[in-house]
Amino acid sequence: MYKLAIVTVSDKGARGERVDASGPAIGEMVKSLGEVVCCLVVPDDLEKIKEALIQLSDIEKVHLILTTGGTGLSPRDNTPEATMAVIEREVPGLAEVMRMESLKKTNRAMLSRAVAGVRRQTLIINLPGSVKAVRECLDAIMPALPHGLDILTGADAECGLS
Ligand code: MTE
Repeated sequence: MYKLAIVTVSDKGARGERVDASGPAIGEMVKSLGEVVCCLVVPDDLEKIKEALIQLSDIEKVHLILTTGGTGLSPRDNTPEATMAVIEREVPGLAEVMRMESLKKTNRAMLSRAVAGVRRQTLIINLPGSVKAVRECLDAIMPALPHGLDILTGADAECGLS
């Protein structure tokens, strides 16, 4: 079972002006992967997002961080930039599949700039902000995540079995 963290990126959420529905929706969907040890709401501020990701990776040593929100085109959407600043290796296939599958639901999926990558032993994945988008994107990538985490953490070294 892996240590998981959820980071909701929202100015309104961080000010207490909006109830976070997407964080709990993620928590429900990822139960099979492990234990959610930390749920944060941070503002759409580049440095604050970076700080949260670094803390969760380097200090809390969580294996998977799922962010939600801040992936679009608004001037305050900084989540992909913060993620790119802290990861060491990009995992482009995860974002590619999320957009590919999401485009079957809405053409607005192409407006998400979500990225994914690895920092140390932590996989960081951006999801868009709405509950609907979170569900659609996670549905697309969940089947590959157990194996990805097994390989990342060294729990498994065999890739050719299925
Ligand atoms: N992806 C899926 N699967 N479903 C959606 O409804 N909404 C899109 C897109 N990705 C959507 C989606 C919309 S409308 C936007 S603006 C972008 O994600 C960015 O959303 P964010 O700024 O909340 O991260």
